[in-house]
Formats: sequence, C-alpha cells, structure tokens
Amino acid sequence: NEIYLQGLADQVPAFTTDPTRLADSAREILAPGPFWYVEGGAGSGATVRANRAAFDRWQIVPRMLRDATARETRTTVLGTPMPAPVLLAPVGVQSIVHPDAELATARAASALGVPMILSAASSNTIEDVAEASGDGPRWFQLYWPNDPDVCISILNRAAKAGYTTLVVTLDTWTLAWRSRDLDNSYLPFIRGTGTAIPFSDPVFRSGLAQPPEEDIAAAVLKWVPMFTGTDRSWDALPFLREHWDGPIVLKGIQHVDDARRAADAGMDGIVVSNHGGRQVDGAIASLDALPAIANAVGDRLDVLFDSGIRTGADVLKAIALGAKAVLLGRPYVWGLAHDGEAGVRHVVRSVLADFDLTLALSGHRSLAEATPDSLVRV
Ligand code: FNR
Repeated sequence: NEIYLQGLADQVPAFTTDPTRLADSAREILAPGPFWYVEGGAGSGATVRANRAAFDRWQIVPRMLRDATARETRTTVLGTPMPAPVLLAPVGVQSIVHPDAELATARAASALGVPMILSAASSNTIEDVAEASGDGPRWFQLYWPNDPDVCISILNRAAKAGYTTLVVTLDTWTLAWRSRDLDNSYLPFIRGTGTAIPFSDPVFRSGLAQPPEEDIAAAVLKWVPMFTGTDRSWDALPFLREHWDGPIVLKGIQHVDDARRAADAGMDGIVVSNHGGRQVDGAIASLDALPAIANAVGDRLDVLFDSGIRTGADVLKAIALGAKAVLLGRPYVWGLAHDGEAGVRHVVRSVLADFDLTLALSGHRSLAEATPDSLVRV
C-alpha cells in the first residue's frame, strides 16, 4: 500500500523490490572485490546454482475459497518472538559494502523486530552492535576459536551485551577454494575499508603491535589462524554448554545423521545450511537436505534453514518442507550496499510482504497450514 501511495505522488522505490535482481544492481555500485566476496561461492559455483535450482523443483499448489483475508505470520523461535519466520543470517565484515556496516543492519532489523544474527567476524564490536539493536532481538554467531580463553572471552562479552541465543557455525573451520576472491587476492580485507576490522576480542587485539585500525593486514593474519583447522569433535559441545546459558544452535548441518547427533547432544536447534554455497563446491543443495532432516529431528529441536532464500515463495517452500524459520543472507547485504539502514529495511520488508501475499494467495492462513501437501515436486 505504501508503494502504491508513493506512486500517486510520482515516486518509485529507490531500488528494486525484486530480490532476484538485487545482485545485478549492486554490481553497478560496488568494486569487484567486495561485490564478488558477497556474490561468489566456492569453486565453480555449482552449489550456489544448485541452491536456487532446488527451489524451482518445488512448486506451490494454490488453494481457493479459504478466506485467507487475515494471516498469522508471527512465530517464536527458541523464545524469541518475530513478525515472520525470517532472521538475518550472520554475515561478516559488512563494512566492505557500506561504512555503516553491522550498525545499519542492526538498526533496520530492530525497527522491524526481525532478529539479526551478529557474525563473529563483524566489522563492528559486539557491544556497539548490541547498542544499535536497541530493543530488538539479539542472536550471536560464533566461529569457534582454537583458544578456549578467547572463546570464553567472546561468549562472556556476547552474554553481557544481551545476546540471548548462540549460533555456532561448524562448516567454516577453514575457508574454501573461493576462486573469485583468490582472483581478487582478497583485496577488500587486506587493504581494509576504514573500519573493516575482522575481529574485536581484546585477547586477540592485545597481541598486535598496532591497533587493527592501523594495521588491518596484521589483524587478519592474526585472526585467521585462530579459527582455522580446529580438531574438535562432537565431544567438545559440552564446553559450549558450560559457558553459554541460553539456547545453542548448530549452523551448517547437511546430513541427517549430523542432525540426529545435534539432537542427541541436547542442542536446541540447527540451521540446515551450506553457507550459501560458499564452502563445499558440489555440495547438496540445502533445500534438498531439508525434508529428511526435518522428518528425523523436527520434533526434537528447532530446524532452521538457509542458502538460496530470495523471495516470499522461497520462504513458504522452506516452511512447508519443515523449517521453523529461515535465514536471509545475500539479499539484505545488497540492500545495505544500496542504501545502508534504509536499504536493509527495504529489502527485508519486501521479502516479508511478498511472503505474506504468497501465503494469502495460495490459501494459507497460518504457518502451520504450510505443509508438504502445499507443494508438488516437479
Ligand atoms: C556469509 N555467511 C556467514 N555465516 C556465518 O556463520 N558467519 C559469517 O561470518 C558469515 N559471513 C558471510 C559473508 C557473506 C558475504 C555471505 C554471503 C555469507 C553465510 C550466511 O550466514 C548464510 O549461511 C548464507 O548467506 C545463506 O545463503 P544466501 O541466503 O546468501 O543464499
């Protein structure tokens, strides 16, 4: 309605309302290094493409005369209420696309009541992002450091800053062969963009001769080994329980046996994810992994989903196949690149509005009514 009314005053949205066209328009405003860091995937990009192709193989079968005039899209995940089953995925070093970085994302998410999952590789400190979040929900994503003291320090800081839920990303204990970034020598990181500090833990910073603001390359070189080649196994999970009071979610699950192990270990949730196709080139499309995992463990923990969500229809398909909620990745980063906080708000509102309309027009009044029967596989 807002956009139609603007049209009466001869105004059109600042940039597209079609999330599938966002990357093209972002390419016009970003340098190749930052653009490809966000857009690219591992290796040949096979899994990035597979993630999208999997959505096209499922189609919604709309139902008529069901009085879907009023819809209920609100839900609660692990104690966090949200206006729709959508969270913002953890995305690191956002300052490479916009100087306001995670602070802008946090403000936009908070204004909409949508949870933002703050990346452990944030350009802004945990405390600054917490402040920018205001009253909004706060989830924190951990890259699990080798050093237990650093890990405890990070967890304590996140808890103190008011983060309620911990998302532990398991699939990135080393970076994949990301040919686009290698072709650009990871330049946005090495040169920095003013505030592109990849990590803010004091334990980590204290080992640097220069503050990271002055020596970003040194900061990156110190940070990366701290998070590389971790040799731990499922037996290490009690350590996290011991040092984190709230719910714990494991991100990067693709195999049904790993989902069962997460449930056996007493985890509260998982994110079925292949990191947006950025880690294992040739990996299973995330949506193809979802139904079996949701069937196996959906009654034991909350199954979240990401990798490939672009439109409202995509959200509906993932919910119908058993996800409790989904994480949106690249689209909101493109919104940030276009217009900072307002850009993130525009993209997230577009996806939520599209989801609500798709739910309505296909005859669903609630999230619970979206089931495998809502879809057909073609
Ligand atoms: C990511 N992702 C990610 N995940 C994570 O756990 N910690 C992180 O710091 C990052 N950083 C990051 C940077 C960029 C530029 C991208 C695009 C992605 C992965 C992210 O959380 C999510 O799994 C995917 O982005 C989901 O796929 P789509 O929605 O981008 O297709």
